[in-house]
Amino acid sequence: MSHNIAVIPGDGIGIEVMPEGVRALEAAAHRFNLDLNFTEFDFASCDYHERHGKMMPDDWRDQLGSMDAIFFGAVGMPERVPDHISLWGSLLQFRRAFDQYVNLRPCKLMPGIKSPLAGRAPGDIDFYVVRENTEGEYSSVGGKMFEGTDREVVIQDTVMTRTGIDRVLKFAFELAGTRPRKKLTSATKSNGISITMPYWDERVAEMAKSYPDISVDKFHIDILTANFVLHPDWFDVVVASNLFGDILSDLGPACTGTIGVAPSANINPEGHFPSLFEPVHGSAPDIFGKGIANPIGQIWSAAMMLEHLGHADAGKAVVDAIERVLAAGPGDAPLTPDLGGRGSTGELGETIAEAIKNG
Ligand code: NAI
Ligand code: MG
Repeated sequence: MSHNIAVIPGDGIGIEVMPEGVRALEAAAHRFNLDLNFTEFDFASCDYHERHGKMMPDDWRDQLGSMDAIFFGAVGMPERVPDHISLWGSLLQFRRAFDQYVNLRPCKLMPGIKSPLAGRAPGDIDFYVVRENTEGEYSSVGGKMFEGTDREVVIQDTVMTRTGIDRVLKFAFELAGTRPRKKLTSATKSNGISITMPYWDERVAEMAKSYPDISVDKFHIDILTANFVLHPDWFDVVVASNLFGDILSDLGPACTGTIGVAPSANINPEGHFPSLFEPVHGSAPDIFGKGIANPIGQIWSAAMMLEHLGHADAGKAVVDAIERVLAAGPGDAPLTPDLGGRGSTGELGETIAEAIKNG
């Protein structure tokens, strides 16, 4: 089966780590006999903005819409283009236009990486955060009245639809079903937010009926954040509304170490539109140009993309390769400085690509 992949390096270290992501994909394609066609795009970058006065061409939807997936680096150069313009003019457009209603982030403690949580070893932390990505608390319903007077009032309504909740829950339950522990945790706050959150809970209970082999629990968001830190080993798949998921999807990966390794995906599960895979980190202007950016976040995103495209074995091979190279440690592998080594972006990328090929 062949797949058309849009490659968008973007800005800063996105430009440095992207070639390593592509190298890993090529290694996996070689080993698993996949036919991956890459098309590189220069838009969704501040360079493009400087040349054209906008982040993307007017027909970006047509250019990207027929792709099977978007492999993204990072966007943003705040010295040159304000962040709200670069981000809203690119990534957030993709999310909306391509209905990428699932934001997925693995939170997995890898070998050789020190968790900021004391006493945690690889195996202790291995779960996913599934965030609803299109509605909920991040709505444009509301407004401001009596501006500038003593009666000044602002209202922003949470919008939860049955369709919106059910489809993200379905994705989360399905994901839990693919994992050995088969456990799903729902983030709620039905004790305080007394209309939308009880409804969320109701939909979880309803969906659970269709997945009898998945064990389900729920926590209020306040104690849930505490439990991420105190008992990260309790979790397998955690599903949350847009706001709660936003918080959990930063906290989860933070519990597993360096920002340089964390991947993420914005997914349209039905495949009506391309899904987007990118490292969690941004363009890191502070280290751009030094060749020391950690490429693992980009490479792990490639693994998520392979899995999404139906090649779970290839995705697993990429994650296994990352784990083996990390386990070798800075003495035996060219790890980048954020991992305590002295390797370059390219050296680490090459080593992982070799590990993918050799299996
Ligand atoms: P950042 O993630 O770019 O950097 C935060 C810190 O982590 C920096 O000290 C950086 O050197 C370090 N770091 C990040 N990635 C690394 C890697 N692969 N290897 C080693 N060290 C790494 O976040 P920051 O500085 O807040 O934002 C910089 C720009 O990136 C801004 O324009 C921001 O809007 C944008 N950004 C874009 C994102 C995206 O494209 N999805 C996500 C986050 C930020
Ligand atoms: Mg966030």
